[in-house]
Amino acid sequence: CLWVRNLRYKRKLPGPFAWPVVGNAMQLGKMPHITFSNMAKKYGNIYQIRLGCNDIVVLNGHTAIHQALIEHATEFAGRPNFVSFKEVSGGNSLAFTNYSKQWKMHRRVAQSTIRAFSSANSQTKKAFEQHIVGEALDLVQVFLRLSADGQYFNPTHEFTVAAANVICALCFGKRYGHDDLEFRTLLIRLDKFGETVSAGSLVDVMPWLQSFPNPVQRIYQNFKELNKEIFTFVKDKVIQHRETYNPEVTRDMSDAIISVIEHGKDNGLSKDFVEGTVTDLIGAGQDTVSTLLQWMLLLLVKYPQIQAKLQEQIDKVAGRDRLPTLEDRKSLAYLDAFIYETMRFTSFVPVTIPHSTTSDVTIDGVQIPKDTVVFINQRSVNHDPEKWKDPHVFNPSRFLDENGVLDKDLTTSVMIFSTGKRRCIGDQIAKAEAFLFFAILLHQCSFENCPTQDLTMDYSYGLTLKPLKFKISAKPRGKLLNGGI
Ligand code: HEM
Repeated sequence: CLWVRNLRYKRKLPGPFAWPVVGNAMQLGKMPHITFSNMAKKYGNIYQIRLGCNDIVVLNGHTAIHQALIEHATEFAGRPNFVSFKEVSGGNSLAFTNYSKQWKMHRRVAQSTIRAFSSANSQTKKAFEQHIVGEALDLVQVFLRLSADGQYFNPTHEFTVAAANVICALCFGKRYGHDDLEFRTLLIRLDKFGETVSAGSLVDVMPWLQSFPNPVQRIYQNFKELNKEIFTFVKDKVIQHRETYNPEVTRDMSDAIISVIEHGKDNGLSKDFVEGTVTDLIGAGQDTVSTLLQWMLLLLVKYPQIQAKLQEQIDKVAGRDRLPTLEDRKSLAYLDAFIYETMRFTSFVPVTIPHSTTSDVTIDGVQIPKDTVVFINQRSVNHDPEKWKDPHVFNPSRFLDENGVLDKDLTTSVMIFSTGKRRCIGDQIAKAEAFLFFAILLHQCSFENCPTQDLTMDYSYGLTLKPLKFKISAKPRGKLLNGGI
């Protein structure tokens, strides 16, 4: 019976003593990913904790994670049956849904849509690139305006709008101004999404916390509202697309998804999955990318010599009379190295979206029952001293060989997009965005820290780690270019 099986399983997995009712919730602290790594030193890379009423297996380090997500890919491809997950994307999320035939089809539709609008052919590549160039040049203008008269400013919202605009342009063929109040308000609310669905969030593992006033109840209420708001925003756009749909002309990703789900051959997805897919793409593609851009800028002002070296290389490749392009990427390995090092060093998605086991599975001789919640500690891979020399040091050059070429073995060792069946499907567009945004920003501007500010690497914990508010200023580097748009 389940009780006997659980008992046997509990004896086998190491882990800290779990208190009645709360389990180990009080031990997680403000930075659960660091706690998970510290616990791994004591209990090994595969151990068990208890949060409220859930036994949770925590996986740390490359070997254990690879063993689970690659060697037992299907068994570890599930998502827990958390109530909060059902609030996402009108209940038709692909990211927050358990492993099933329908999920596979859903993921395939989303994956091929992303490919079709970013890298399928030279025309789509160009269109994708133009969206980013437009946003990057807008950012240059906004940053210079906010730096007028020696002012310093916090760039968070501007990056949020820029990243949201790229994904909105892909999904709806429409972008929004930095001053669009309604859009900005929606994005500010979305910022809080990751508080609830991150590993260690208590909403799902202690459901009784929702029955009386407390901070967790407030967070969850807010989470439900923001999911409704973003879903309503997307649904409205999808309805407009449906009403003006023309099978001869695919205007954007919404049209492409309508075409496959509503007009393609039966794939088991009802028309509600259109809104679900678009909401997922906007949600997944906005917060993650804008957080990466924020960290990149923070690190550039923290390490001015790295900023200067990047500018020198960008000038060498693009010159001063044209903007850098995605084509220049193969000649600008140092910028890619800087991006990989930012992802490794900050590990700003420290733990993936929680997984669950789809059947009983044995790894490392330990049996884990079906439907066990699994946390994947990505940061532990990126800071493993066996893999990385001085992991606590920020050093983009670690990714370059003696000829200045990117070391593929090392870049693929960075774990920020997860791996296996649930691996992120937006990794290529995210990296292309990070590259082009910063190639253009650094070509056009120099950035510096506010002199009265002690720039820290402190952050708030959630699905993404967000840097605490910091202020910078931008100065133009010679004549401004408009990229011909
Ligand atoms: C899932 C990271 C950008 C779409 C994920 C996961 C991570 C991740 C860690 C969870 C994997 C797991 O649970 O094992 C990132 C990072 C990004 C980024 C670091 C930016 C730097 C994007 C973009 C898109 C996207 C731009 C699409 C436009 C998705 C989707 C999933 C996902 C749809 C769910 C996959 C599934 O559950 O099958 N991402 N992501 N992501 N990501 Fe991303």
